Amino acid sequence: MPHPHDDGDEDGRSDSDMSEGIVELSADEIPEYFQERGGRLFHSHGSCPYPLPVDAEEQQVSGTPPDPDSRQNGLHQLLRRLLGGELAVGPVREVLAALPGEQRRVLDLGTGTGSWVLDMAREYPDVRFYGVDIVPIATRYPPRNVLFEMHDIKEQFRYDTGAIDMVHARSVTMAIRDYGALLPEIARVLRRGGLFVSCEWGRRPAMADGSDVAARAPRALAFFDAVRSTLLERRGIQTVADRIPQLLADSGKFTHIVARTYHMPIGDWPDNPEMRELGREYREMVELYARSMRAVLLDGRWAAHADDLVQGYIDEIWSVPGLVSICHTVYARRG
Ligand SMILES: C[S@@+](CC[C@H](N)C(=O)[O-])C[C@H]1O[C@@H](n2cnc3c(N)ncnc32)[C@H](O)[C@@H]1O
Repeated sequence: MPHPHDDGDEDGRSDSDMSEGIVELSADEIPEYFQERGGRLFHSHGSCPYPLPVDAEEQQVSGTPPDPDSRQNGLHQLLRRLLGGELAVGPVREVLAALPGEQRRVLDLGTGTGSWVLDMAREYPDVRFYGVDIVPIATRYPPRNVLFEMHDIKEQFRYDTGAIDMVHARSVTMAIRDYGALLPEIARVLRRGGLFVSCEWGRRPAMADGSDVAARAPRALAFFDAVRSTLLERRGIQTVADRIPQLLADSGKFTHIVARTYHMPIGDWPDNPEMRELGREYREMVELYARSMRAVLLDGRWAAHADDLVQGYIDEIWSVPGLVSICHTVYARRG
């Protein structure tokens, strides 16, 4: 039977860096994790390239109950609807099926507010969930089968080899410069046959009918071109969402790699009432995303045009029917 952790602790945890151990950040500890720029709150962790704000509007503030209106929590609900009510793609039920005498374990990377972990923990009350993030923004009062830990996912995990049944990573491509370098460590902690599930938004606009986005939504295209080049030039962050299946194959450690993309409508243009409602709500999230990205653009060679680029994209999400965001999912088994 796999052991959860080197320390031999039944829970798979040590005493340091655990969210349960963090009572409240004192004023002098806050700069260690967060810094304010232009009225928004950002990470201040040394080598971390993550560019988005971590404030209430984007996520939620540490110690508060999950804010259903924050962009990350709102996105979580919309993604679930896009995936047909599922929390993840792939054979999750099979992989997490109870085995007598064995504890199933799931690790969520860059867990953020913990919304995915918290919903999964309700659906699988006998499974143990670990959510790791570089800053303490998840609730300090998780249910008994959830543990939120502070951890930099570029570093080795504290779990034993083969101790984890499923690793989930959603919207983390801005957290790391080299996604491929993460895969051997994910493979190490997964048991044979364990499941890796990834879900990432593409950083390019697209039209639902496949028509030319340059002709239909040129300002959306300009916004994303500027975002991608600024992320790469200023932070070394690559746009890898559509390359993760290949990176999994190249690692040589995963089998049964299955990729699937989903189109999230932006705006109330779909005929189908459910998709129309989804698109209407998602457009609000996209507008918040564009405003969060303003800070990223201000940091690079597009700084002088940041406001125009953001406004151009926002104008088009309100005026161009057929715009979609592409959600890239992939799952794979540990070979
Ligand atoms: C866009 S959010 C996604 C949150 C969550 N996975 C979700 O889908 O709701 C990305 C998260 O990655 C975290 N992050 C950034 N760099 C990280 C690192 N080096 N290690 C761990 N987490 C990191 C951020 O703090 C943020 O919460």
